[in-house]
Amino acid sequence: MKQSLIFAGLCVVVLCGIAQAEDGYDLWLRYRPLEKAAAARYRPLATAVVAAGQSPTAAAAREELVRGLSGLMGRPEKLETRFLRSGSILIGTPAQSPVIAALNLPLAKAGEEGFVLRSAMVKGKTITIIAGNSDVGVLHGTFAYLRLLQTRAPIDHLDLVSAPKIKLRMLDHWDNVDRTIERGYAGFSIFNWFELPGHVSPQMKDYARANASLGLNGTVLTNPSGTAFAVALTEPWLKKIAALAAVMRPYGIKVYLSARFSAPMEIGGLKTADPLDPAVRQWWKDKADEIYRIIPDFGGFLVKANSEGQPGPQDYGRSHADGANMMAEALALHGGVVLWRAFVYSPKPEDRVRQAYSEFKPYDGQFRDNVVVQSKNGPLDFQPREPFSPLFGGLTKTNTGMEFQITKEYLGFEIHLVYLGTLWQEVLRSETFAKGPGSSVARVVDGSLFGSKLTAIAGASNIGTARNWCGSVFDQANWYAFGRLAWDPDLDAKGIADEWVKMTFTADPAFVSPVVAMMMTSRETAVDYMVPLGLAHQMATSHHYGPGPWVNDAGRPDWNPVYYNRADAGGIGVDRTATGSNAIEQYASPLAEQFADPAKTPETLLLWFHHLPWSYRMASGDTLWDALVTHYDNGVKEVAAMQTQWVALKPYVDEERFTITNDFLGMQKENAMLWRDASIAYYQSLSGLPLPKNIAPPAEPLSFYKALRLPFAPGSPGRTAAPFREQ
Ligand code: GCU
Repeated sequence: MKQSLIFAGLCVVVLCGIAQAEDGYDLWLRYRPLEKAAAARYRPLATAVVAAGQSPTAAAAREELVRGLSGLMGRPEKLETRFLRSGSILIGTPAQSPVIAALNLPLAKAGEEGFVLRSAMVKGKTITIIAGNSDVGVLHGTFAYLRLLQTRAPIDHLDLVSAPKIKLRMLDHWDNVDRTIERGYAGFSIFNWFELPGHVSPQMKDYARANASLGLNGTVLTNPSGTAFAVALTEPWLKKIAALAAVMRPYGIKVYLSARFSAPMEIGGLKTADPLDPAVRQWWKDKADEIYRIIPDFGGFLVKANSEGQPGPQDYGRSHADGANMMAEALALHGGVVLWRAFVYSPKPEDRVRQAYSEFKPYDGQFRDNVVVQSKNGPLDFQPREPFSPLFGGLTKTNTGMEFQITKEYLGFEIHLVYLGTLWQEVLRSETFAKGPGSSVARVVDGSLFGSKLTAIAGASNIGTARNWCGSVFDQANWYAFGRLAWDPDLDAKGIADEWVKMTFTADPAFVSPVVAMMMTSRETAVDYMVPLGLAHQMATSHHYGPGPWVNDAGRPDWNPVYYNRADAGGIGVDRTATGSNAIEQYASPLAEQFADPAKTPETLLLWFHHLPWSYRMASGDTLWDALVTHYDNGVKEVAAMQTQWVALKPYVDEERFTITNDFLGMQKENAMLWRDASIAYYQSLSGLPLPKNIAPPAEPLSFYKALRLPFAPGSPGRTAAPFREQ
């Protein structure tokens, strides 16, 4: 009896083990055994690990290498040795290892955080070197080396040097102190404030490993928006932050906090937060001193001020520069920085997409050296497609950082399969022409165009308590892609997708190429069924998941979608030329001239810049109306194709990750049909035009009134909980 119970128990353990083996927790760091051929190829070159360093960071690198190799080679035996033998991997800095020092590696090019990977012959032994100028460089090199194995790249003649092109590479959490997450679709915050600092979840180390594997070096732990209470800057809270900082430190990651501008009043007892008031300035200095006493390597503050109702310097008639510089002065004594967000939207008559430029351009050159003005990639708000923000190229004397959104607020939450690598690549490669050709956004962000020394890139995180971290398996690819582009904004989105698929699923080309192909078109697919031809923000104002409603229950327009489509009986689109808001004037020549002319504007941005008649002729000869309808319809077909493709790939994927993806694709297809049918119904009610001949009318024609009552989008657990609630 007892024995059979034990046996049954074992079965449960084993079976659970199998079922949970691929629940997505391991992300791209799975280190599952290589297939035979690859293992045979790599094994002689990876027989032992010789680690020269002693610090916690060096230990983290050694531990990761041993873990990775044991897993990949399917060989749990002890890999660490003290002496070099053939096939050893030697990791360390020249200061730690005479062998590394004697090789004269090109470490000058690796900087503080980069690395060199080199195959070498030392005393007749073939060895591999993973070297850096610092232990954190070695750690980054270790992850890069493991990535080579995970992606089945050759490792026999390594000669590689890599250094990050952007200095601050940050993951921004919009996590509230009550653990809800603004625009989070993967559960609650992974930072368990209640248990901290007494207990630090082991997940924190895996979080640090994942970020370090991409070379990220900063994390903002709290939300810069309304619910980022000033409480996070009080002493008990700082102790919690310190406990997290201790886990991140060995992985080369600094912690940052969002700072609420009115904190001197809320937690300091002052009557004002005026940045020119001496008492307020002193308060921030004292606060900075206190923070650095508790967290000596604290990174700095992220600030959202005078935006969407947040307090800020303008409340006292002061400028963004006054506000940012006050905080920067306090932090400068300790080497900290201020990331001052340029998302300054407030309801005023000026075209919303002009606002950030209007508010920041006049202060260009007035921000302190340790301030970064952090702009969203587009001038509006993380839309499926926008032109790049004119602040990139427009600010020439200010450190201008990039803010991407990894969480898919406007791209179907965790449900829709949308790979963002292509979106970010499109932005980074956009020509600003600020200094003629070659002035891409990437060159602004990496500091080379205007010679900025402090450079930054941030991604609003998509991580939560979901077992697979991101809510969906494919959203892990967006965290991955963000990190890779943060290290090198010139990387290719397709190459990144290829790496991720191999590391996350399998290196079998029969799986990899169709999945990469699917990822590469997925963003354009979403654009097609949501906001084709340069439309934007057709999502309902509150939840941002589904379409419209263009008219709400009270029969009034939901302001956002209508504000952004300007559709009427005559046509559609927003006139941002000289006859309209003239937002095009914020771009450099020749872009401004190009955007002024519909015929020269890329069709992907046509309705962003122009209000055009339904009968407008596209380059194809189709009318705008026919082209628009065709895009919506194609979007649905493309999702259906993804679904069919995924089903065909079932044999290559474990049950759990196959199923969640398949279920989500099913939901995405239904959502895409609703987007298409509701959008067409609405626009048809205005244009009165028939559907193009090759487009079948929906099986069940959908009125826009019906669309608006659809039970779309549960919303995040944060402030977006109520569907269709108007803000
Ligand atoms: C969007 C988003 C908000 C967020 C804001 C920001 O507007 O909907 O939830 O607070 O961006 O970036 O601060």
